[in-house]
Amino acid sequence: MSTAEHMRRAGHAEHMGRTGRTRGIKRVLTVFGTRPEAIKLAPVIEALGSRPDEFQSVVAVTAQHREMLDQVLTLFGIVPDYDLDIMTAGQSLGDIVINATAGLSPLMGQVCPDVVLVQGDTTTTFAAALVAFMHRTPVGHVEAGLRTHDLARPFPEEGNRQLTTRLARWHFAPTALSRDNLLAEGVAADAIHVTGNTVVDALLAVRGQAFSFGPGQIQDVLSSGRRIVLVTAHRRESWGEPFDRICAAVSELATAFEDIHVLFATHKNPIVADAAQRHLGGLERVSLIGPQEYLPFVKLMDAATLILSDSGGVQEEAPTLGKPALVLREVTERPEAARAGVVKLVGTDTGRILAEAARLLTDERAYAKMAHASNPFGDGHAADHIVDVLAAEERP
Ligand code: UD1
Ligand code: UDP
Repeated sequence: MSTAEHMRRAGHAEHMGRTGRTRGIKRVLTVFGTRPEAIKLAPVIEALGSRPDEFQSVVAVTAQHREMLDQVLTLFGIVPDYDLDIMTAGQSLGDIVINATAGLSPLMGQVCPDVVLVQGDTTTTFAAALVAFMHRTPVGHVEAGLRTHDLARPFPEEGNRQLTTRLARWHFAPTALSRDNLLAEGVAADAIHVTGNTVVDALLAVRGQAFSFGPGQIQDVLSSGRRIVLVTAHRRESWGEPFDRICAAVSELATAFEDIHVLFATHKNPIVADAAQRHLGGLERVSLIGPQEYLPFVKLMDAATLILSDSGGVQEEAPTLGKPALVLREVTERPEAARAGVVKLVGTDTGRILAEAARLLTDERAYAKMAHASNPFGDGHAADHIVDVLAAEERP
């Protein structure tokens, strides 16, 4: 479907223009493209929508992800005003930049927003911030200030987040540590707002909702009495050998522990989905279950004994859930979770992953030490804090 068709489908072929807006109401254009951005911006979009006297909320998705994005849009009832539908199989980083900027640039002229909101560190995040900057529209960066200070890890996210910082007007830092990272780079103190991470808002909103798995593989595993080890892995810098080593660890773990069942929520990206299938397909007590919708995924995190993941969002969710998680990465921009004691950075070495996982599955004291809830990433009101800051600003 072409961009024009998608915009029509979303019901916004009309020019919104600067005219016709109610005095004093700020028009906020929120742009995102992938699953984690959608989860983390859903609470902000809801908060903006709940204040119609102050904000007109306009939502544009690049759809850098398609199915995985739509899963989240449906859960949170978000109907984008604009859908650029850019995802292609095997897209390169350049493809994402080109197609996102080509779609967003004319849209900026149509919507004429007062503020553009972006989240995190994906290539959509950077492209949207760049287009807003070129249109002299101030950018609010949600989840600002995360750093590894290593442009290769995670790639390209560390670059995307540093570049977005350079372009942003408001930096919504989830923690004091992320604020300090921004200050160290010379960002003005009064442009930084420590708000907590909106992922906690989303998680708490969803966690209480009822959900039951229908008859099938996952339900069978949940009722088998086996302990669940939940796995996700998708990072670009892990493609190839590191991912092979992660799969080897998963395979050996399932062989060594007959009382566990591994649920691997594989990513849609064929590079990692195919590798997981090659290494783990058909193994006993290992199920490749594909990307789960957010609500069932939260239920699976809750049901799991142990999580193995290289995901950014999962590192933030594990402390709120009090769920021990081993982070399959060499460095992290989220050291707060490790400091809270709930997650541990273990890298991608097969032996190390296996040893750390085996210890938690056999040593009750080691397990109990990690399995406690804490909230280094916020109290679940980050979205309200962000919207309060925008409300207090003079309209440009
Ligand atoms: C992207 C982000 C990464 C984020 C991750 C969250 C960039 C460069 N990467 O990585 O920061 O952590 O999302 O999951 O911004 N695909 C589908 N359907 C989907 C989604 C993906 O088929 O719903 C397949 C497509 O073939 C696509 C490929 O996955 O070409 C890669 O997607 P892409 O967004 O480029 O990279 P991710 O690895 O998903
Ligand atoms: N998630 C999900 N379904 C899954 C796997 C993950 O809904 O099958 C959620 C997870 O709870 C977290 C977010 O997706 O909120 C993380 O997305 P991802 O790992 O794709 O990206 P990252 O956070 O690493 O950028």
